[in-house]
Amino acid sequence: MIKQNFNLTSLNTFGVSVFADYYCCLESESQLTTLRSLVAPIFYLGGGSNILLTKNYHGTVLHNCIKGIEILEEDESSVLVRAYAGEVWHDFVTETINAGWFGLECLAYIPGTVGATPVQNIGAYGVEAKDYIEKVCVYDFKTGNFEYYQNEECHFAYRHSIFKTELQDRLIISVDFRLSKKAIVYHRFYPALQEYLAEHGIAQPTPKDIYQAVISVRQSKLPEVTEIGSAGSFFKNPVITTQHFSELSIRFPQLSSYFYDEDHVKVPAGQLIDILGFKGKYESNVGMYEKQALILVNLGGATGEALHQHSIKVMNAVYEKFKICLEPEVIIL
Ligand code: EPU
Repeated sequence: MIKQNFNLTSLNTFGVSVFADYYCCLESESQLTTLRSLVAPIFYLGGGSNILLTKNYHGTVLHNCIKGIEILEEDESSVLVRAYAGEVWHDFVTETINAGWFGLECLAYIPGTVGATPVQNIGAYGVEAKDYIEKVCVYDFKTGNFEYYQNEECHFAYRHSIFKTELQDRLIISVDFRLSKKAIVYHRFYPALQEYLAEHGIAQPTPKDIYQAVISVRQSKLPEVTEIGSAGSFFKNPVITTQHFSELSIRFPQLSSYFYDEDHVKVPAGQLIDILGFKGKYESNVGMYEKQALILVNLGGATGEALHQHSIKVMNAVYEKFKICLEPEVIIL
């Protein structure tokens, strides 16, 4: 069950070749009690779609492959569905849409597993996982206990949760989603989705239409992780003061912003990187993707360190030009 000197190339979507001293594939909860003596440090791996491995891992990579989807509660208007951490996220979303349970359609086609969704509170097209998560079950290796965290105890924020801070050592076992049985009526769409719906002559989209639109838009802008190494958006979209934004808009009138709070706006990091001319420029097979500048890509054979160095170069250039500190969204190991 535990393997030594294990190559992680196929387990990270950047396709970086590094080794873990120990690797263990966790397939059921019943295995947990036998795993209390794993060699530390332990890194919990899901779909490997949000990590950049820069060096060999001297510890144990615990690959969470616990699968299963079950209905916990159901009434006329909603369903509470439990998905285990090792389920492939997009497949789970597809199952919910096909079953007539709505809410997750905007989150279709995001790579990774269910277990990662609460950790970084994945989001797209105005929806975040937190909008539908009711509770999260985790395992504490120290006490050997399972713990449940209700939505409000998870401290969800933009690409953030308590599972990135205080509860970093807990292993996510399952996530309960409260989904609607009544189709959600959308009043506002992201321009990219709007364009798709207009092109397809869809005036009143069903959740399934939104699901299709999201897949199509993501396919057109984002690289397929099976073809090009990447981990989705590499940086978070930074939040800056409205004062800072006003100053920047004089120099860069094209710069977009989204409301954050009364004194702050969120700025698209992809646009900052694009303005700097990094988009589609590759050096030794590393660069920011030609269709979306927020995505760091490995066109083949790049090392994790080379990818990391490129990200630092981009961060420095963004700081130099805009006085904005970009923060990686991806976990760098
Ligand atoms: N933009 C450019 N040039 C680029 C890329 C973007 O000018 O190369 C501009 C776009 O024209 C647009 C704005 O930046 O005005 C925002 O771009 P986009 O709608 O593509 O979204 P994003 O802010 O870059 C975020 C999420 C994505 C999510 C999309 C859609 C983050 C870090 N990323 O990207 O999530 O799919 O919105 O909702 O918040 C992910 O987290 O891995 C991810 C892909």
